[in-house]
Amino acid sequence: MGDMSHSGIDRMKENLKALKKTVVGSFVRIGRPTSDRSRAAVMFNNFFLHVQGVKTHVNTLRPGYTLGLGLVSFFLLLITVISGVLLMIYYNPSIENAYNSVKDITYVVFAGKLARNMHKWAGEGMILFVLMHMARVFYTGSYKNGREFNWLIGIVLLIITFGINLSGYMLPWDQLSYWALVIVANIIQSPKEITDSLGITRYFDIGGFSKELFLGGLTPGKESLTRIYLFHIMLFPIFLFMFLGAHFWRIRKDGGLTKPENFEPTTADAEMLTLPKKRGGIFSTNKTYGLMELARGKTPAVDKDIENTVLSWPNLLLAEAAVFFLCLAAVVVYSFYINAPLKELANPLIPENPAKAPWYFLGLQELLSYSAFMGGVGLPGLALLGLALIPYLDREQSHVGIWFSGRQGKAVALRAAAVGAMVLIALLVFVINFGWFRNWWPNVPQLLITLINPGNLWVGFMIAWSFIVIRKTGSTRMGAIALFSLFLVSYVILTYVGTELRGPNWGFFWSKSQWPVH
Ligand code: HEM
Repeated sequence: MGDMSHSGIDRMKENLKALKKTVVGSFVRIGRPTSDRSRAAVMFNNFFLHVQGVKTHVNTLRPGYTLGLGLVSFFLLLITVISGVLLMIYYNPSIENAYNSVKDITYVVFAGKLARNMHKWAGEGMILFVLMHMARVFYTGSYKNGREFNWLIGIVLLIITFGINLSGYMLPWDQLSYWALVIVANIIQSPKEITDSLGITRYFDIGGFSKELFLGGLTPGKESLTRIYLFHIMLFPIFLFMFLGAHFWRIRKDGGLTKPENFEPTTADAEMLTLPKKRGGIFSTNKTYGLMELARGKTPAVDKDIENTVLSWPNLLLAEAAVFFLCLAAVVVYSFYINAPLKELANPLIPENPAKAPWYFLGLQELLSYSAFMGGVGLPGLALLGLALIPYLDREQSHVGIWFSGRQGKAVALRAAAVGAMVLIALLVFVINFGWFRNWWPNVPQLLITLINPGNLWVGFMIAWSFIVIRKTGSTRMGAIALFSLFLVSYVILTYVGTELRGPNWGFFWSKSQWPVH
């Protein structure tokens, strides 16, 4: 017994001596990834890395293919989450204290201004990058070949990205927050336009009900802020991460990113793929190989990696780390120089004029000025439905993984963008100069305006143009390219008009300096 306890103590001493090695060993189980086997093991044993394949196709590593846009969206999200948690330490979600707590964060708390700016700009940057990522996925035809479902998950991510930004905009409870909240509440209430026209609001006030549900009352107040805060810091983030998990998992299950069917490595790719100088190929010794099975390709190339792939460690991870640090540096530098706005404390008695939604909704607000229902619910709903249906209406499986599906697609996109821009601008110039039905016939029934207004005419044009393209080219893919390009053009032009050219009472002004002083 005495001996045993003695040897027990000895063992304990040895364990203590080996502590550094054993503790580190339990974290780093594989050791330094020096062989191909250990490089592969790192990828599939690490929780954070295993969502990615052990091997990556060289096409995926070409910066010009993905442009890194999905990754940037993800990294911006990470920056937003970390800075957001820091803000939560001081932010107080009550209408009495919210404004002052944001002021404290900005002017008193150490590095608070930087944290707030980073949170704001990384969050809004997400909108830009998620939209550009969607455009990349669309133009490379990456919603096909089993990726239809992931495209739909993407649309959910897009909606949540907008929602999380919008809800954040309300939290400082300054004049910007308050009057944007009023506008959003009006958008939510916009089905009233229809029920009023039909004279059924008294029995079926779906608009009023939705608005009340959203605000937690009839006017913006403390219940609204509590609700919005709950969405901003909990519900939206939970759903965002859940769907993002599914998004990444689907990429894996769909066999990685899309690539051209007849992919031919370029000289630069070949260098990565060729033995023995390459970094991290699957074969790392100069063995000779017997032909055990039929290899794909023109010749059984012994010195090439399988199907043009390379090990993800280090090839993919280095690229990802580079994108991350670039992203972080860009956000820090931008946030250092450009401050997130903070106006006066919210005042329900002094309306902002113009009361504007945040910039990413100003395209909608422009449409809203033609018809509340169509701008607030009808047309955005149609746009989302159209985006969601794209993979099901265009099922051509050729040219996947090629930007614009080739030359014809590029021409179709450019023509749609150019003609679309001209038509939309002409329409806007007409509306701004001559007004619409209500200005010409003050007693015109509202329902007529809901049905025929510049926004609807524009969407009608988009659809008609896409059908013409399908008929002319005999290709649904070309029709989809035309439609999507028109969608992007309208988002950009309408957002610009809403942001820069609209002033008090939603009047047209060439610049802010012309706004009447009041
Ligand atoms: C929070 C928003 C989003 C994040 C963080 C995100 C992230 C990513 C990442 C990192 C990839 C890998 C390839 C790349 O970087 O391009 C990817 C691929 C993909 N994403 Fe997203 N995404 C988001 C939103 C969207 C949206 C809005 C759509 C489309 C409606 C979309 C559809 C897809 C599809 C289909 C793929 C596979 C592409 C392929 O196979 O080439 N994603 N996403």
